Amino acid sequence: MSVDDDCNLYSIKRDALPEQVISAIKEAAKKPLAIKTKDPSFLLSQQNLPPTLAADIMHQFNYFLSVLEQEGLEFDLKVQTHFKDSCKLFHGDNVFARMIVTYCGPTTEVVEEDNLNRDQLGTDWESFEEYNCRVLKDRNKIINLELTWAHVLFGEKSGKLPQIHRAPDIEGTGQVRLTAIGTIY
Ligand SMILES: [Fe+2]
Repeated sequence: MSVDDDCNLYSIKRDALPEQVISAIKEAAKKPLAIKTKDPSFLLSQQNLPPTLAADIMHQFNYFLSVLEQEGLEFDLKVQTHFKDSCKLFHGDNVFARMIVTYCGPTTEVVEEDNLNRDQLGTDWESFEEYNCRVLKDRNKIINLELTWAHVLFGEKSGKLPQIHRAPDIEGTGQVRLTAIGTIY
């Protein structure tokens, strides 16, 4: 993972999670969760976040920071459950870099550069569907990020082309997403 190349998406592969972490995810996803902090160890004091899951998130976030933290740039970590749709349009983030780990539920959709009509980004739109179809060359080539892996998406302030992505639709499906999102602004 580096700021000195053209790659705007890095995926940090991992093996299957230990059973205790899987149980902790199921437990945490039952309730609304919205934690925001600059200090990852704060997660350990959260009653609604099982310690094994808190430790896993801390580990991912600390690695992200250890590689990419930039002098003078703010950072934070959000751990959230999502029961509704959000960020339905394909977009790049106006940040330096973002780490996304989806612990359960549908995962973030990303687009490879050769499947993207970059000139359509930010144009007027009539509906989510209409806009997203225009931004993509082939919607069958949308890629869903892997569950539980840490993915780093570089944003507009990184000097690279921002990685284009959107949150998956979940409303009406009965599914819950549990995400840990680290941001270097
Ligand atoms: Fe985003």
